[in-house]
Amino acid sequence: MNISIPQFRTSLHLFAGVLFLLTFVAAQPKSIAQRVDSLMRLMTLDEKIGQLNQYTDDGAATGPVTLDKDKPQQVKQGKLGSILNVLGSERTRSWQKVAMQSRLKIPLLFGQDVVHGYKTTFPIPLAEACSWDMDAIEHAARVAAVEASAGGIHWTFAPMVDIGRDPRWGRVMEGAGEDTYLGSRIAAARVKGFQGKGLGSTDAVMACVKHFAAYGAAVGGRDYNSVDMSERMLWETYLPPFKAALDAGAGTFMNSFNDLNGIPATGNAYLMRDILKGRWNFQGFVVSDWGSVGEMMNHGSVKDPADAARSAIMAGCDMDMESRCYTSSLAKLVTDGIVPMTVVDDAVRRILTKKFELGLFDDPFRFCDPKREAKALNDPAHTAAARDVARKSIVLLKNEKNLLPLSKTTKTIAFIGPLVKEVKQNKGFWDVELPGVDSNFIVTQWEGVQEKAGKNFALLYAKGCEIEGNDRSGFAEAVSVAMKADVVILSIGERRDMSGEAKSRSDLSIPGVQVELAMELLKTGKPVVVLINAGRPLVFNELADKAPAILYTWWLGSEAGNAISDVLFGDYNPSAKLVMTFPLSVGQIPIYYNHYNTGRPATGDNDRHYRSAYTDLSIYPRYEFGYGLGYSPFTYSGLKLSSGSLTRSGSIQATVTVTNAGKYAGEEVVQLYLRDLVGSIIRPMKELKDFRKITLAPGESKSITFTIDKETVSFYDPQIRWVAEAGEFELMVGASSRDIRLKERFRLTD
Ligand code: BGC
Repeated sequence: MNISIPQFRTSLHLFAGVLFLLTFVAAQPKSIAQRVDSLMRLMTLDEKIGQLNQYTDDGAATGPVTLDKDKPQQVKQGKLGSILNVLGSERTRSWQKVAMQSRLKIPLLFGQDVVHGYKTTFPIPLAEACSWDMDAIEHAARVAAVEASAGGIHWTFAPMVDIGRDPRWGRVMEGAGEDTYLGSRIAAARVKGFQGKGLGSTDAVMACVKHFAAYGAAVGGRDYNSVDMSERMLWETYLPPFKAALDAGAGTFMNSFNDLNGIPATGNAYLMRDILKGRWNFQGFVVSDWGSVGEMMNHGSVKDPADAARSAIMAGCDMDMESRCYTSSLAKLVTDGIVPMTVVDDAVRRILTKKFELGLFDDPFRFCDPKREAKALNDPAHTAAARDVARKSIVLLKNEKNLLPLSKTTKTIAFIGPLVKEVKQNKGFWDVELPGVDSNFIVTQWEGVQEKAGKNFALLYAKGCEIEGNDRSGFAEAVSVAMKADVVILSIGERRDMSGEAKSRSDLSIPGVQVELAMELLKTGKPVVVLINAGRPLVFNELADKAPAILYTWWLGSEAGNAISDVLFGDYNPSAKLVMTFPLSVGQIPIYYNHYNTGRPATGDNDRHYRSAYTDLSIYPRYEFGYGLGYSPFTYSGLKLSSGSLTRSGSIQATVTVTNAGKYAGEEVVQLYLRDLVGSIIRPMKELKDFRKITLAPGESKSITFTIDKETVSFYDPQIRWVAEAGEFELMVGASSRDIRLKERFRLTD
């Protein structure tokens, strides 16, 4: 072959060009996908399975304890990808050092239940949800992330987004209540708060949305129980908060302990493969709940640990928390051809991708930073944030004759009850016990009130009784202390660990003789303000009828005392609104505002004959969803729609004016509900569709505009398609789901 000089030159240029391109490509930083692939090419099957395995640290357990004497050895051998419950930068650093002695030096991922704060404890999530304040909620999660990440935590098992309609279920305290729309907004706010500027920034912790799915519907409110649910209910009520969390960028999901329609969620391919990783295209990974892979043997869906491992991994559960079925069985399942290697590879790839995104391969120690930790754990701004959200979470249930706020000129106050001087109780169920941190930084209720007392008033104390038991021997002292005071504040309720995981209760009354104590104090004729501390809606009808003022204070976290005192003395005007219906009795459960109408609905308590009602109970709950008082009344006026007809491509505006008719500046949560009057599938009596939390000075009015479009009126049809049906809608604006102030109607046209 003869090559001419010009041809030769062209070839030379071409060659040089290709060489340049190759060098350029090689010099480019590799994408995370490429780095994961390169790493996976080096990994043995055992090392891959190691990445799918998570244990708890010795000594700290949030589930049935398992102890491995040789855990460090297992880490060195690459048999462990993640550890939970590792507390403090020193401890996370020391475990990471062990991981760096493994062949491939794959960093460990540290997970922790940072559910309502790390050192600075925020109100339990159910309480915080009552603030309806998305900025405050996001900020609380942000603060928790800043503190936890500095201690070396990469990953929080939160937010818990299970819809809670049954207060017997102790885990309602971890969620955002009964409503799907509000729950979805809060789920997104919490994910954004935890993940901050995104995975990779050193103050972000990766969110884990849990528990996938339908855990909140456990039969009878008994924890871990079965869930039997229609597709329609699943999609309409229980799944949207998960989707909202995913859309907000949540990196991981946790599956749940319950079975859904006979298939344990941990081995449920429909939930994890079809919905989450399929229809929703989730790219992160799924971790099991504590031991839930192995627990499928108890459910009776698998016969042994190997069968459990097969069922879980095939269904899309990528990481096994604490059941040890993956480590004991997966290798053989793969070599026997029962579990395809591609399935294991996919799980490993998802987990390694997150470790790369977190920047752990660039610096495995970037999160455990003692200096940053010391600063974060002592930041006064965090305390201020905790106080802000705590006071926004307190619900004023009753305030006869404006007993509250208490006058600062009150001379003598008796502060009575078993919870007045409690320290740790204020922290709620999922508190984090940090090594070396003295819990005295928690402001007790006594300290909070005493701080305001200063020289202004005398503060007297009596315990009265314990939280539980029937010892009434302290009643006499409590009554005599009350007699010396102008006002009595009584603090009663549940212990913090009476609501939480495995804390289902069949009796929702206030425990022990606390209500009896309240009745004795009320008999003195002194004005009594009752503080109810609890992790769930309780039943307390006699108290609700007789006490002149009641504040539901939940468990408010490290600033509980200050927040309560701010509300008692009017330094904060309560603005919280209930996010769960409070039943009149346990027999009324489940009760929630957005139920369907029946063919024989009762229209009131005098209309119960052959109606959907109990013969022996009101049709109404004690307190409805969205209820909560403030120190100023708000009036609603002038609801106007921009048009009575909505098109599929357009929108209409609903405008309403809200006025503060009282003498205290305050916040109001203006709630917008809709009812689709006729649907191919019946629609709830009302559904929350939007809300605004506004601040108004005394006498001030504000006009609020809500926008309604096709999305607002859409729902899932029987084929689970998201549709909007033409027809008439009722639009309601109100101060609670029952206290509807104004209504209008509009049509969706074809
Ligand atoms: C709980 C989870 C929690 C996990 C780890 C389980 O018992 O159900 O919500 O994240 O333990 O502590």
